[in-house]
Amino acid sequence: MTSTTAGSARGSLLILNGPNLNLLGTREPAIYGSATLDDVADLAAAAAAAAGFSAECIQSNHEGDLVDAIHAARGTAVGIIINAGAYTHTSVAIRDALAAVGLPAVEVHISNVHRREEFRHHSYLSPVCDAVIVGAGIHGYELAVSYLDKTLA
Ligand code: DQA
Repeated sequence: MTSTTAGSARGSLLILNGPNLNLLGTREPAIYGSATLDDVADLAAAAAAAAGFSAECIQSNHEGDLVDAIHAARGTAVGIIINAGAYTHTSVAIRDALAAVGLPAVEVHISNVHRREEFRHHSYLSPVCDAVIVGAGIHGYELAVSYLDKTLA
């Protein structure tokens, strides 16, 4: 799933969602809520537009696609918002991609991963992200846009 909003003065934010997040709305609603991935994309794009950014929202269930999208952001995006789903807890490749492009990046998790299973407590991505937002539901994507709004020129 990819959606892009029209260009704007402050540049584009890449909003990246990883595996199983295409099932938002029906996936374990007690944990992830009832909003769909389209709702997330609309919310994030609206927050980005209000802050003067455009937004490109990409979801993939495949690790390499996420790596490719991060590489493509170099030169096309001014910041990255990433919910890598389960790859957060396993992927050195996504961590290395974020480190390689060096763009300002915010890690988002809809659920409070620290209240959940032990294996969700470790993130390979947090050390290479500028901010981490967990447990705020889909509002976390708006908070991530707000962080980039405040910290980017
Ligand atoms: C998640 C948390 C991860 O542990 C999980 O694998 C997900 C979603 C979240 O948004 O809360 O797929 O990233």
